[in-house]
Amino acid sequence: MDREVRRVEDSYVETMHIVRPNHLNSAGRLFGGILMEWIDEVAGLVAKRHAKSNITTASVDNLRFLKGAYQGDTLVIIGKITYVGTTSMEVRVDTYCENLIGERRPINRAYFTMVALDQNDKPMPVPGILLETEVEKAEWENGKKRRANRMMRKEAGF
Ligand SMILES: CC(C)(COP(=O)(O)OP(=O)(O)OC[C@H]1O[C@@H](n2cnc3c(N)ncnc32)[C@H](O)[C@@H]1OP(=O)(O)O)[C@@H](O)C(=O)NCCC(=O)NCCS
Repeated sequence: MDREVRRVEDSYVETMHIVRPNHLNSAGRLFGGILMEWIDEVAGLVAKRHAKSNITTASVDNLRFLKGAYQGDTLVIIGKITYVGTTSMEVRVDTYCENLIGERRPINRAYFTMVALDQNDKPMPVPGILLETEVEKAEWENGKKRRANRMMRKEAGF
């Protein structure tokens, strides 16, 4: 039977947060652990929409804090599926700080590997991706390389 495919935009997720006093670290900047919680949630929502099943986070790589964020900042978090294996999905999550005229400055990027789980919490196959744009095709090709790196690190145990 042919593998079912879904479009990238079908699982696209965008969320927003205001940085409040309880999100800050002792130096007065957004605490990285809070942002990691928000981006993990977005990655999970993307994966859930794509797989239409329960999911779990297997790994996170290339997580880069590019700029800090401060109290009162408006953050926009965007998650998109970029690559799928058999039971795993790679989700790219970009975080931006948005100003009052809607300009967005990137502050974080990360790639999550999410795994679809069946009713017994065992990995289950996921649909493929219908690649519709040049950007999606390029992400897919780069996703193959990132997956190879991940597998190499897993085998090496680091
Ligand atoms: C992720 C998990 C389900 C993988 O289970 P497993 O027994 O290794 O299953 P498999 O070997 O069949 O791997 C399943 C998929 O995960 C991928 N995978 C496993 N470990 C991985 C890792 N460290 N990094 C990236 N992908 C990984 C495999 O490549 C495979 O993908 P594929 O089917 O597309 O090829 C399991 O390790 C787990 O439950 N971990 C805990 C997850 C969790 O609790 N997360 C929340 C954080 S608290």
